[in-house]
This record gives sequence, C-alpha cells and structure tokens, in this order.
Amino acid sequence: MPKILVTGGCGYIGSHTVVDLIENGFDVISIDDNSRSTTYLLDGIEKITGKKVKNYKVDLKNFDETLAIFQENEDIEGVIHFAAYKAVGESVEQPLMYYENNMFSLINLLKCVQEFAISNFVFSSSCTVYGSPDEIPVTENTPPKKAESPYGATKQMGETILTDLAKTSETNVILLRYFNPVGAHPSINIGELPVGKPQNLVPAITQTAIGKLPQMQVWGNDYETRDGSCLRDFIHVSDIAHAHTLAIQYLLNDMNKTNCEIFNLGTGNGVTVLEAIHAFEKVTGQKLNYKIGPRRPGDIMAIYANNNCAVQQLNWQVKYDIDEMMRTAWEWEKRVKKDEELMMKQNPSLN
Ligand code: WQD
Repeated sequence: MPKILVTGGCGYIGSHTVVDLIENGFDVISIDDNSRSTTYLLDGIEKITGKKVKNYKVDLKNFDETLAIFQENEDIEGVIHFAAYKAVGESVEQPLMYYENNMFSLINLLKCVQEFAISNFVFSSSCTVYGSPDEIPVTENTPPKKAESPYGATKQMGETILTDLAKTSETNVILLRYFNPVGAHPSINIGELPVGKPQNLVPAITQTAIGKLPQMQVWGNDYETRDGSCLRDFIHVSDIAHAHTLAIQYLLNDMNKTNCEIFNLGTGNGVTVLEAIHAFEKVTGQKLNYKIGPRRPGDIMAIYANNNCAVQQLNWQVKYDIDEMMRTAWEWEKRVKKDEELMMKQNPSLN
C-alpha cells in the first residue's frame, strides 16, 4: 500500500482525508502538533477504519524533528499538507504568528520533500485566494486578487512557492482550492471541533442550536444578493476529502499534464447565509435563534465555484447536498455534547 504523509491529520479536513485514503487502500501517517487539534479525531478514525493511525506530535517549524520523521519513513510516496492556522479574524489581529507558522511549516516540509525526492505534493489552498471576484462562478483561471487577510496571503504565498518549486524540481504539485467545507463524516465519528468561539457559519449555527451559544448573528442582510445575505459555496467535508485521494492517485498514476495543477473544490452551487440557516431548520426541525447584525469586516459578498476541472480531470463527483451537510453537522454537534458530558462525568475536574 503506498504510504502517504498527511500533515494536520488530527484536524477537521485532515482527519476526513485520512479516512478516505485508508478506505481507498493507502497507508497513512500524520504529523500534527495538536496545537489546534486533539487526538479525539484519531479515535474516530479508528472507529471508522479499524486502523490506529500513527501521529507524530511534532511542530513543522522544527526542521530537525520534521526531518527525523522522513528518515524514519523513507517509503513516503506522497504528501498532503493541511497543517496551518486558518482563522481569518485571528490572522488580522496576529499577522506575524500566521506568517511564521504557515510559511515556516510549509518551507521546512518542502525541504524534507526535496531531500527525500518525494514527487507528489497536494496543498490545501482556499477560494480566499480569489478575494472578491468580479465574476462568479470563479474558474481556476480567475485571477487571484490581493488577499483580504494575512490568512489568505499565506495561502497565496504557499501557492507561489509551490508553483516555483514545481518548475525546478521533480516534485509534482496539486493546489486544491476549497470553498466552504462544512458537515461531518456520515458515521458521525469525526467532524469539526472549532477552537474557542466559532468564527465559521455552520459551527456557529450548530452551537447556537444546541445551546452552547445564546444567539448567533447573521453578519449583514443588505448585500446585493437574492436575499441580502452573503452567498457562498458550501461543500461537504467528505467530498473535499475524497478529492484529495483522487488528486494523489492522479499524481501517482502520472496523469498530471503539467508539474503544477489547480482545482476548485466547490459544489458549483451558491447558497446564501439565510438559505443555509433555513436548510438547517428544515432538516433538523430546530428553530434557530439568530438576529441580523452589521456586516463583518473582510467578508466578500458572493463567491461560488466552477468545478468542471476537478469533475472532468480528477473524475470527482460531489455526493452531498446542503441538507446532508446540515444534517451531519447537527448530528455531530449532538455527539460532541454527549461525549463532553461523559468526560465531565468521568472526570469532574474538567468542569
Ligand atoms: C461564511 C458566511 C459570514 C458566522 C472563511 C475563509 C475560508 C475558509 C472558510 C478555511 C459569511 C457569515 C459567519 C456567523 C454569519 N477557511 N457568518 N454569522 O468567511 O466565507 O470563509 O472560512 O478553510 O478560506 O475565508 O466562512 O463560515 O466564516 O462565513 O453571518 O456567526 O457566513 O459573514 O458571509 P468564510 P465563514
């Protein structure tokens, strides 16, 4: 079984990708310093796949410790890089922390990839590189705009570094630009575990519905969209995960036409914030306690994907619709609450 290194394997998209890789015949190891994750999702991966995935609890900013992992695993055939900080608002408040963490991690990882002549590298990028597009849906040829946050800038810089490296090395690169990943694995054994107060829409919805948050705000309903709220391309995390497996298989089978290829990972359908809330209410029967608030600085009005390249070249099919995204997100929120209550009972000091 080809061995794939997943960085950030204990995280939201990383853990779902680990499951999909294992289910498609890959041997997987993870590097995750657990600074923004826990091993809770590794337990969920084991429940789903029966496999205990080895995670190296190492900070990628530590080059020597990272290199040692490659020395111990000389049979790595591909790398999928998720490990990065990703909170837009936090990146505005702490830009240096974002540039140091996201860029030093990537550069150290790439130095190891070069040292061990690993020729397949998949990078977790984001639709944020498009900024506020002049035309939608966006294609992979839509020119990126100046990033609206240091987080977005780190994704753009990561793409530039990889594009330049691919030109002068044996490493073939795929850049996957996610739109808005949401939902949880259908088994409800893994899902999103936001650190602190959730910034993203769907965890804000589910935490409000379960009572962790008293009320949520819809940041603006005066945009020029069909209902005044922002428009996004919400995509189920398991669809995103499977695209990574297809991307690695595409490279391992030498299907790539150039040394650096880009794919949009979105459903191709735009959904507004209010439509997402109504889908949640319909699917779960939960009335959501929200109010309309002011626009959030940095938000763009509307974006959604043209995903033809991924569908045609990676043979990727989007399986989950907005209802299934909301259903699995809600089921996962309820599961986490139950596990938290169990942990509190077993260890009252956690209160
Ligand atoms: C979506 C919409 C909010 C919370 C960012 C990054 C992207 C990716 C996902 C990492 C916006 C509105 C939100 C709330 C709200 N990051 N909203 N009330 O900003 O589109 O994308 O996160 O992978 O790269 O750019 O996602 O979920 O934060 O916001 O009204 O409590 O929901 O204003 O219009 P965003 P989001």
